Amino acid sequence: MAEIIRVQKGTKDILPAEIDLWHFMEEKALEVFSNAGYKEIRTPIFEATELFARGVGDTTDIVNKEMYTFEKSERSLTLRPENTAGVVRAFIENGMHRLSAPIKLWYKGPMFRYERPQAGRQRQFHQVGMEMFGIKDPAADAEAIALAIRYLNALGLNDLDVEINSLGCPECREEFKTKLKNVIRPYLNDLCEDCQKRFEKNPLRLLDCKVESCKEIYAKPEIQEVIQSDFICSECSEHFTLLKTYLNDLGIKYSVNKLLVRGLDYYNRTVFEIKSNNLGSQNAVCGGGRYDSLVRNLGGQDTPAVGFAMGMERLYSLMQQFPQKKLTAYIVSNETSSAIKLVSDLRNNGISCDFDMTNKKFTKQMEKASKLADYALILGEDEIKNNQISIKNLAESTQKTISRDDIISVLKQVN
Ligand code: HAM
Repeated sequence: MAEIIRVQKGTKDILPAEIDLWHFMEEKALEVFSNAGYKEIRTPIFEATELFARGVGDTTDIVNKEMYTFEKSERSLTLRPENTAGVVRAFIENGMHRLSAPIKLWYKGPMFRYERPQAGRQRQFHQVGMEMFGIKDPAADAEAIALAIRYLNALGLNDLDVEINSLGCPECREEFKTKLKNVIRPYLNDLCEDCQKRFEKNPLRLLDCKVESCKEIYAKPEIQEVIQSDFICSECSEHFTLLKTYLNDLGIKYSVNKLLVRGLDYYNRTVFEIKSNNLGSQNAVCGGGRYDSLVRNLGGQDTPAVGFAMGMERLYSLMQQFPQKKLTAYIVSNETSSAIKLVSDLRNNGISCDFDMTNKKFTKQMEKASKLADYALILGEDEIKNNQISIKNLAESTQKTISRDDIISVLKQVN
């Protein structure tokens, strides 16, 4: 036999047994986002590499280590590692700034990051997310957080922690970075290799290092004093205070986490994450924030923006108890020509159904019906002779015989 070719490390098939739950997540996204005035946008899976280098930031792990980049006709292309940069590109290219603000977009689809795979972390994964353009007021940030929670609740997920932080603006952040570097510099040689690189390029990222020895250093009192200080300027501080007021008004519980800096460079002011206590170390189901400079940095007009994305595989693993969707009816019969006509008739009337094409014994067909459907429609010799159908409610084990002419109206009532 020929050698089997296996699925690539960090990627996964979504199998028929899992697909109902994926459809449910997608349908709920359409419902919840549409109800809040968002329109779906679908952008290409690959983009110019430069979009991510300039958009996500060339000091980030995503751009430095994790991109799937390839050349075609002397162009450098990259499979999207996230979708904010692509949506911003589409926003600019299609002149969407001319639409009246806020411009509200949502999306779902696969993303690609060359990461070390582990539970909750894949190389191809799916995100569902939103981006809102044109609003400076923290009402937009509050709406994004409230929308994320509404979607998670619609999936039946309630055991969630919301963390927020403000990264300030480029000006106040510069001052903070200098202070942070000054207080950490004496320990520079003891930091991990990644932190040594981050120290010059992106010192804020030091704060979410997961290496124990680095965490111990950052827990030192003089370093904590700088981290916990209120470094943001008065305008950024007002923005953050107003966001907290809105969240309180909405009854949304949150905590302020000063170590929350996020792994993408485009954020300013608000950043947030929603975590689940029921996931392992990869416990962030949602991450987002404000990015007021990105549209301008990618060549568009100055446009404030805020958004988030959620990892759908992580949502999936929290929703395992979801019941499989069943067909309405399964036809149990050895009279193929009658069965095939009945199936066609039911499907033409929008009733989901299937039938056995292998002429198995009745008992085998009934077992299959119990697994797949709510009702078994029995078409035996007697039924066919009398123009009837026996209909069995498989959950209740009750059965009655009705006229063949009534089957559609009966099933429509329960469909
Ligand atoms: P992110 O935090 O990189 O943000 O990703 C958002 C979510 O995607 C994470 O919280 C996680 O649930 C999921 N995720 C990320 N990487 C993986 C992976 N390798 N495997 C499985 N799930 C993963 C962004 O992508 C930003 N674009 C969010 C945003 C939108 N900010 C503003 N607008």
